[in-house]
Amino acid sequence: MTDYSDEDITHFYNVALDLVDKAGKVVVSAIENRDKKIAEKASPTDLVTETDKAVEDLLVSGLKKQFPNHDFIGEEDVSAQSGCVSNFSSKPTWIIDPIDGTMNFVHTNPLVTISVGLTINGKLVIGIISAPFKGRGATCNSKPIKVSNCTQLSLAQCILEVWSRDGAESEAKQQANFSSIVSKVHSVRSLGSACLNFAFVAAGNSDVYCHAGIRCWDMAAGALIVQESGGVVLDPSGKDFDLMSRRILVASSQDLVKEWITQVDFKTSEFKRDYPDVIFPCS
Ligand code: IPD
Repeated sequence: MTDYSDEDITHFYNVALDLVDKAGKVVVSAIENRDKKIAEKASPTDLVTETDKAVEDLLVSGLKKQFPNHDFIGEEDVSAQSGCVSNFSSKPTWIIDPIDGTMNFVHTNPLVTISVGLTINGKLVIGIISAPFKGRGATCNSKPIKVSNCTQLSLAQCILEVWSRDGAESEAKQQANFSSIVSKVHSVRSLGSACLNFAFVAAGNSDVYCHAGIRCWDMAAGALIVQESGGVVLDPSGKDFDLMSRRILVASSQDLVKEWITQVDFKTSEFKRDYPDVIFPCS
């Protein structure tokens, strides 16, 4: 196992940031096209466009050129293969969501982000979320951001993602979760980009976000950014967060998390893990 210095990590970060900036320009120029080439993945509401692929290629090829020995987990590459992550090891591993909020992108809704995370020895060390339309990148190092002071569920703005036409069981659970939550919080919002949700909690624009069924490329950068901005990152059960588990709860404070766990009955389906084994337990 190789150790990397702070200097190495800063170099990785700067290369990735430059590529994310280039990728943002591709997204901005493509969103207005009303004739996007759209394909369905696992369901009629799970979509990919040629821009998702182009952006993933740009990021992966750019990073590979600089760091040929690193590994990559890209949403579109994994989706085009078996759908399962097969290479989560101790090596530096870039986890990439080229357009998070593809459904928004398809509708020319600008709430979309590019997400790049890096793990080394299974631990998240870099997280970059860029929202090219809002100019509110949530990269921790270039702009200090802080979670809100919210400690009470009744005063919390909660972000909940709604996934349409996902089968009767999922719809029933989503409705039950909505009912359980809406009666206890200050307000509920649904943005349509998981990364933007993390960025909102990290920057103190919303207070709590919980999601099950999400993939590792949706969570990698965001989980680190929430943690670095003083927030709490856990499994929805209150146990430690596991990047490959497909479940996450982030909040502005421990007090808020405590109230959430005791008062909200958050139902989740059993999802196949992104990587079968828990080889990097979070502490
Ligand atoms: C999706 C978005 C969406 C969330 C889904 C994700 P994608 O990512 O983050 O907000 O509800 O679970 O799959 O497919 O647009 O990259």
